[in-house]
Amino acid sequence: MEKSKGKILVVEDEKSMREVLTMLLGEEHYDVISALDGREGLACIDKDIFDLVITDMKMPKVDGFELLKKIKEISPETLVIMITAFGTTETAIEAMKLGAYDYINKPFKIDEIRLIVKKAIEKKRLREELSLLREQIKTSYSLENIIGKSARMQEMFAIIPKIAQSSSNVLISGESGSGKELVAAALHNLSLRRDRNFVTINCAAFPEGLLESELFGHMKGAFTGAVYNKQGLFEIADGGSLLLDEIGEMPINLQAKLLRVIESGMFRRVGGTNDLKVDVRIISATNKKIKDEIDAGRFREDLYYRLNVVPINIPPLRERKEDIPLLAEHFLRKMSSTPKRITPEAMKLLLEYQWKGNVRELENVIERTALLIDKDEIKPSDLPSEIMSYPRDKKFIPELTSKGIDVDEIIGDIEKRYLMSALDLVGGVKTEAAKLLNLSFRSFRHRLQKYGIK
Ligand SMILES: Nc1ncnc2c1ncn2[C@@H]1O[C@H](COP(=O)(O)OP(=O)(O)OP(=O)(O)O)[C@@H](O)[C@H]1O
Ligand SMILES: [Mg+2]
Repeated sequence: MEKSKGKILVVEDEKSMREVLTMLLGEEHYDVISALDGREGLACIDKDIFDLVITDMKMPKVDGFELLKKIKEISPETLVIMITAFGTTETAIEAMKLGAYDYINKPFKIDEIRLIVKKAIEKKRLREELSLLREQIKTSYSLENIIGKSARMQEMFAIIPKIAQSSSNVLISGESGSGKELVAAALHNLSLRRDRNFVTINCAAFPEGLLESELFGHMKGAFTGAVYNKQGLFEIADGGSLLLDEIGEMPINLQAKLLRVIESGMFRRVGGTNDLKVDVRIISATNKKIKDEIDAGRFREDLYYRLNVVPINIPPLRERKEDIPLLAEHFLRKMSSTPKRITPEAMKLLLEYQWKGNVRELENVIERTALLIDKDEIKPSDLPSEIMSYPRDKKFIPELTSKGIDVDEIIGDIEKRYLMSALDLVGGVKTEAAKLLNLSFRSFRHRLQKYGIK
């Protein structure tokens, strides 16, 4: 049997009418329940949730109006279509004012019913999807989902809500993958602008001309390829926030136009003749030192001061190692349906690694590793080789100080690294890895067992 396309309640006291509707909608693969009159209709609504209710207007005791009011009260998501006798359009309009979705005049055509119902159900599905997406966006970009217990992240968590409340422009700097976009979205979602759009654009992703028309829009015929009028992102972000990612890549000519919008709120679409005014909060992000760009003559200093009213600097992951375990476990939980853990030895390697790609790199590593392991544990040998054998050429022999060291542990560590690197170099072939280390196969295998390397 085909899956039901939606649940519909038909309330109609006229028997033939009720039967026709029930059969017709049943054939269209809706799940249809019918009620003999308004009172029975009320009982159905109390018991179940419907996507759509089709109800006659005139019925004894409980009429369509009463039913509609009740539905709006207890099941506001349910759509209601009224069936009205010919010539009573006024009551139908009254019903729409009370929140009915649509009305159908009796007598009706079968195709008309089909179409109206199909549209109504589609609309309801879209609405559901949209509100779901909105929720997801809000929750996934508010502060709770930015993870970090290091002092520097905690400091940031404390100031973000305050910064969010103002409309001052913010410049977020940080290495690639450090969470700039996440912070920008949190700034928007914690601001009074949250119900308006949060629009992002990567300035490095467009050639100059295209970037201009993306930002400011264009009129039909403004350039080859401008076949219709198009709003720019500044218009779409009006009342909301605009994230200019990789702002350091913005061409110098466009910088002048950007400066103008910031100073006056005014801009012109490409090929347009009149000025438009907008109210947009600009959040920019960069992984370059803008100061260097200014010195090199590639970035306007006046623009920089306008963009950098409030600076936020996100430290690289390697400078806040306390966040690594938290983040790793967070991504692991997100990735797998069953609980998995990272062994202390593996965590140690994650802590030592340099993370040039910051949180994004960590996220990718955990994602990949979690997919490949078949046990519920991530061990050192499950980790990608670059992490397992890092640092390859730096010394990893700690100096002996007055605090003392655990010599067995350190030597064991060194041995383990060589075992793993050797396996890695020869693609996991044990006999060859043993040769590389000048060990007999038996001795090699014994050592693998000792350290629990797969
Ligand atoms: N503190 C954090 N907590 C949880 N997830 C994070 C954190 N920081 C970054 N991430 C995740 O890491 C990934 C990269 O973050 P984001 O895209 O914000 O970085 P970015 O600084 O904008 O990178 P790029 O410079 O490459 O544009 C995203 O999937 C993001 O969800
Ligand atoms: Mg980014």
